[in-house]
Amino acid sequence: MPPDPPRRETAQAATRPLAGIHQLSDKDFATISRLVEAQTGIHLSQSKKDLVISRLSRRLRALGMRDFSQYADLLSSGRAPQELLEMTNQITTNKTDFFREPHHFEFLRAQVLPAVEAGTPAHGPKRLRAWSAGCSSGEEAYSLGMTLSEYWAGRPGWDWKILATDLDTNMLRAASRGLYRPEQVAKVSRNLLLKYFLRRRQDGGYAYEVKPSLRRMITFGKFNLIHAGYPHRTPLDFVFCRNVLIYFDGAQKQAIIDKLTTSLRPGGWLFLGHSESMLATNRRLVCVGPTVYRRP
Ligand SMILES: C[S@@+](CC[C@H](N)C(=O)[O-])C[C@H]1O[C@@H](n2cnc3c(N)ncnc32)[C@H](O)[C@@H]1O
Repeated sequence: MPPDPPRRETAQAATRPLAGIHQLSDKDFATISRLVEAQTGIHLSQSKKDLVISRLSRRLRALGMRDFSQYADLLSSGRAPQELLEMTNQITTNKTDFFREPHHFEFLRAQVLPAVEAGTPAHGPKRLRAWSAGCSSGEEAYSLGMTLSEYWAGRPGWDWKILATDLDTNMLRAASRGLYRPEQVAKVSRNLLLKYFLRRRQDGGYAYEVKPSLRRMITFGKFNLIHAGYPHRTPLDFVFCRNVLIYFDGAQKQAIIDKLTTSLRPGGWLFLGHSESMLATNRRLVCVGPTVYRRP
């Protein structure tokens, strides 16, 4: 089965309580927010209460629980680590798409890759390392993979790899599987679809599976961006960390941006989501395009 489409971020979908509405007291909301923050770094303000009800009601139903106080007790008991994981998976918002914010992929093709190529000595190693941080169900990483693969196609000898990480284990499973419904690949051009996907019969229709040749260029893994010790030994040429920082408060955002910047090589690029432009104030980065930053 292809993965379910990622949850949408619309205000309606995010806040609509499910049938059989469960009440969530301020005390239980505070317990759940504290656990979410400890697990993910995500700070849930009081305005997110309806979202929490909407997202977690399905967990209550799955566990046969009648109210949130039972659920909050279970989560805080320390006896249900798996449920803690399920809970954080539900809270994170996974909306993504192939070639989302297409101007970033154009910037990559027209500016970043030519600069990487020009900056590589003719007889030195031709290597490029990139990171999709907060990759959700994989569309961003595969879009990067297709862009790199297309660019290097006429330029032999390049060793390029992408690391793609997320906190949400359900999304990582879908990402590694690389199997998408037709509506999920609607933004992929016909040419790229033919080149990088296999069309498979699935449940009376079709699904599109990323070809092994593209899949093996990308390594998916779990990584929480609030952790210290970022997972790179080799400095990175560029990082996409888009639509992830929206979850964090100001100090956490700056701490993550700082760590992302440190993981870049001098001259490396950081791409953020369209609503995350506050970085212009960061002294360690220079803004070089719409939500594109460069480490001097
Ligand atoms: C809205 S999606 C964005 C996906 C993709 N970057 C894009 O722009 O299309 C945000 C992703 O960030 C992940 N995320 C949230 N908090 C995280 C954290 N602390 N560490 C790593 N990933 C996190 C979520 O699980 C979710 O998959």
